[in-house]
Amino acid sequence: MARLALVTGGTRGIGAAIAKRLHSDGHRVAATYEGNEAAARAFEDQTAIPVYRWDVADAEACRGGVQKLQADLGQQVDILINNAGITRDASLHKMTPEQWHAVIEADLSACFNMCRLVIEGMRARNWGRIVNVASINGQKGQFGQTNYAAAKAGMIGFTKALALESARKGITVNAVAPGYTATDMVTAVDPKVLEGVIAQIPVGRLAQSVEIAHAVAFLVDERSGFITGSTLSVNGGQYLI
Ligand code: CAA
Repeated sequence: MARLALVTGGTRGIGAAIAKRLHSDGHRVAATYEGNEAAARAFEDQTAIPVYRWDVADAEACRGGVQKLQADLGQQVDILINNAGITRDASLHKMTPEQWHAVIEADLSACFNMCRLVIEGMRARNWGRIVNVASINGQKGQFGQTNYAAAKAGMIGFTKALALESARKGITVNAVAPGYTATDMVTAVDPKVLEGVIAQIPVGRLAQSVEIAHAVAFLVDERSGFITGSTLSVNGGQYLI
């Protein structure tokens, strides 16, 4: 039976590219979304990938959502891609507590909420793949993103710790750290600021979402079982560690 992959924030941007790629690789796929109903319906119509609406920052909503989708699909989640994320950019001296908490909850606590729900099943079945979509800005920092950089760096630490705990159970846990990618999130950045960012990318352009999806597909592959706790940078050479 095909494995079931769940992609959070999987109906737009990088998440949609991941969901489509895993689907074309032969996995069963479900995608979550939080706000954009029209985009989610269009994605579902186009791909026949079932979509579920809940807020990944809300632990109880995650519990209900995962239970429902597993019951609907008659299968447990074998592959989890924690992709959903938001930005609330502001310099720290202007940042509100709401902007701080919104990003920490949606980007980092969501990773806990979702992993916590699927890890026991993966351990029981002795197989699992978790990929956390972090960011170049969690590796290098970014002016205007103390909240986002902290959340994404936190995801990388979380990935390493859970990888150690899961290694004996056939579960790999890795992060992908995308650079600036042509999505709504990045095109929302002030064009002048974005021009400066592109000038710092050795490849000379933004990433395409399918290029990030390719890295995720590699990590969830059956043959990637010896890769765990790693962070795969996909950033056009912008930041090398
Ligand atoms: N580096 C250095 N100095 C900068 C700067 C930067 N990146 N951005 C602004 N400044 C300077 C300004 O030139 C200005 O200097 P002066 O005082 O001499 O005029 C000063 O800092 C302004 O500081 P403020 O705190 O008032 O900043 P602001 O309110 O004007 O703008 C900001 C803050 C909106 C966050 C802006 O810096 C910005 O848009 N930064 C880009 C954030 C970014 O890259 N976000 C990525 C979103 S995409 C994403 O996150 C996806 C992913 O994973 C890659």
